[in-house]
Amino acid sequence: MAALQIRLLGDPALRRKAQPVTAVDDEIRRLMDDLLETMYAADGVGLAAPQVGVSGRVFVVDLRDPAVPPFGLVNPVVLEQSQETDRGEEGCLSIPGLREIVERPARVVVEGLDREGLPRRIEADGLLARVLQHEIDHLDGVLFIDRVSPLKRQMLLKRWRKLKVES
Ligand code: NI
Repeated sequence: MAALQIRLLGDPALRRKAQPVTAVDDEIRRLMDDLLETMYAADGVGLAAPQVGVSGRVFVVDLRDPAVPPFGLVNPVVLEQSQETDRGEEGCLSIPGLREIVERPARVVVEGLDREGLPRRIEADGLLARVLQHEIDHLDGVLFIDRVSPLKRQMLLKRWRKLKVES
């Protein structure tokens, strides 16, 4: 396994729609392992392939919750989402230092392939529902700052520019 470099806001790789994975093979399993290692090194709860510059519909999640063992998902689709929404704070390893409240459907049903290439269906609420939606957004080139009001987004981008100058 190897920790990879995480692409930061401004990198075009984050804005591309990722390509579907054609086969869950050893290469994809290695990518999942690398994503997990990269995510742990950065102390995150989720990481998607575009964040390490790979155009593939793959992400990994580890909520550090014994009830939800770490997992990777390939070619995920949202089958159902609740009308009811939930507001919760989000951050992103590609936009370190920024956090904001994001409103999303409270519950989702997501289906994809696991690391063996077998179908996996996940019915989620709470933090898991939020993280799943955040990671699937990454596969479509969407970031959490796109899901807040234009005014909040402007403030976040201003803070981001300031953080970049200071670092
Ligand atoms: Ni993110």
